[in-house]
Amino acid sequence: MPQLSLGNQNSLVSINGNLTPPEEAMVSIFDRGFLYGDSVYEVTLTYEGIPFLLDEHLERLWHSAAGIAMTPTWSKDEIKKFISEGLEAFSKLSDAKRQYIRVIITRGGGEIGLDPSLSNGQNLFIIFRPLPEPIKEYYEKGVDLVVTEVIRTPKKAMDPNVKSGNYLNNVMAIKQAREKGAYDAVMLNDKGFVTESTTANIWIVLGETIITPPIEAGLLGGLTRRTLLQIGMDKGLKIKEQNFSPETLTSASEVFITSSTREVLPVTRINGELIGSGSPGPITKKLHQLYKEFRDQYIKTAQSKL
Ligand SMILES: Cc1ncc(COP(=O)(O)O)c(C=O)c1O
Repeated sequence: MPQLSLGNQNSLVSINGNLTPPEEAMVSIFDRGFLYGDSVYEVTLTYEGIPFLLDEHLERLWHSAAGIAMTPTWSKDEIKKFISEGLEAFSKLSDAKRQYIRVIITRGGGEIGLDPSLSNGQNLFIIFRPLPEPIKEYYEKGVDLVVTEVIRTPKKAMDPNVKSGNYLNNVMAIKQAREKGAYDAVMLNDKGFVTESTTANIWIVLGETIITPPIEAGLLGGLTRRTLLQIGMDKGLKIKEQNFSPETLTSASEVFITSSTREVLPVTRINGELIGSGSPGPITKKLHQLYKEFRDQYIKTAQSKL
C-alpha cells in the first residue's frame, strides 16, 4: 500500500478498492464518467465514525445504476468493506468529527463513443474527507432561495430520481441562484410545480400540514426526505406528498430543505420575500429535533452491534 496522506485536498481516495493519496488519485480522460457524466454516485456522512444509513445509500446507488442500465461490478458488501477500510485509514490521518463519504461508479473507459457497450469495465471511486461543522447561522436565521428559470429535467428525458454524475441541470440552476446572491435555487418541473432545490428536497408548512412534492413531480427521492416522512407518520403528524405551485411555496408559513449533510435546514426568504415571520418556524425546529433523535438512535444501535 502506498504511504497515505490527506494532501492538499484533505482527502483519501479508494480506487477500485485500493486506497490512494489524493495527489495520486487519477482517472483516465477516456473514462465515461468524465466524458459523459456516465456514472452514478452517493454521498453520506459519519456520526461517531459510523456511516449513516449506509445500506439505504447503497440501495439507492443500485437503483440509480438500474436507471442508467448499469449493473455494478462490485457487491454492496465489497463496497462496504472498502468504506470501512477507508474510514479506518482516514481516522488515523484526521481527527475530523464527521466524515464525508462519496461513492462513485463510472461506466469506465474504452473507445470514445456514446454506446455503453464500448466500455471496457467500470471504475469505483470512494472519496473520504472531513465534513465541515454545520454553519450555525444558517440554522438560527434560515437561508434564502430563488425560484430559477432552469426547470428540472423531465422524468422522460433523464429521471431526476437517478443520482447520476450528470448534474449540469442543477449546476445551471445554482449558478443562477448564486448570481442573485441566494443560497440555492428552487427548480420547477415542466408543468410549473415545485420539485426540489439543486441538492436538497423541499418542504412547506401550510397551517398544520407538512408537505413535500411527490417523486412523480420529478425529483430525487432523498433519504432524509424518506426518513422525515416516516418519522412524521409514526408521530401522527399531518405530513404528506403533494404538488404545489411557487405561489403556494412563497405563501407558506414555513419552508425548509433536507439533505443528508444538512439534515433539516430552515428557509426564511424566497425571491427576496420573507417566509412567515422571517425566522425558522416551530414545526421546522420540531422536525429537526425528531430527525436528530432518530439519527442518534440509529448510531447507538449500530454501535451496539460492533
Ligand atoms: C438533487 C438532490 N435532491 C435531493 C437530495 C437530498 O438527498 P438525501 O436526503 O438523500 O441526501 C440530494 C442530495 O444530494 C440531491 O442531490
